[in-house]
Amino acid sequence: MPSENWTQVDRYINDLFIPPDPVLESALRSSGEAGLPSIQVTPNQGKLLAILARSIRARTILEIGALGGYSTIWLARALSPGGKLITLEVEPRHAAVARANLKRAGLDGVAELRLAPALESLPRLLAEGHEPFDLVFIDADKPTTAEYFAWALKLTHPGSLIITDNVVRDGKVVDPTSQDPNVQGVRRFNAALAAEPRVTATVVQTVGSKGYDGFAIALVN
Ligand code: DHB
Ligand code: MG
Repeated sequence: MPSENWTQVDRYINDLFIPPDPVLESALRSSGEAGLPSIQVTPNQGKLLAILARSIRARTILEIGALGGYSTIWLARALSPGGKLITLEVEPRHAAVARANLKRAGLDGVAELRLAPALESLPRLLAEGHEPFDLVFIDADKPTTAEYFAWALKLTHPGSLIITDNVVRDGKVVDPTSQDPNVQGVRRFNAALAAEPRVTATVVQTVGSKGYDGFAIALVN
């Protein structure tokens, strides 16, 4: 549970740094109305993703886990001119909401949603000979995070960023005996990330209106 103070500070930060944005607000509203879980990144986290994408002048972005397309909009807007984003989503209900939100955002020509299990879409991207992605954002089912990261490594180039959400899980990540498959999934991912010589990586803890969690940020060497 987020503390009241974390939520107040998130509101304070968002009031200062996130101007009113009808497109993003309608994406959140339609996601809520469709009954999607309210687990998308917070506005200030969405802006962080956009800053990271812009700082590397990302022209190609891959997102694993679209949900209602909220982070997708932040990332797609951060693309360099002519850039393209592909987002992978397995839930038809999420995909329908995300596609509608991307269309309303005027991003349907920029962001393509592929409705399939990511472990099917990822090898397909490789087989298609898709150009390497400049940035990958992993934010899908947690038990499979390590596999998504392994695919992300195949689909990126030196200088790419691979950012992974939810790697702290309310601090439960420190418990090696946890019975929670999400915790075990992120523990396995964090260990693989730390041992991976092809990246320079760290984890940043986060708190806010969505509670206590963290991002892993990896730069491909
Ligand atoms: C969960 C998933 C997320 O991507 C997130 O940001 C928060 C929670 C979850 O499945 O519990
Ligand atoms: Mg997440």
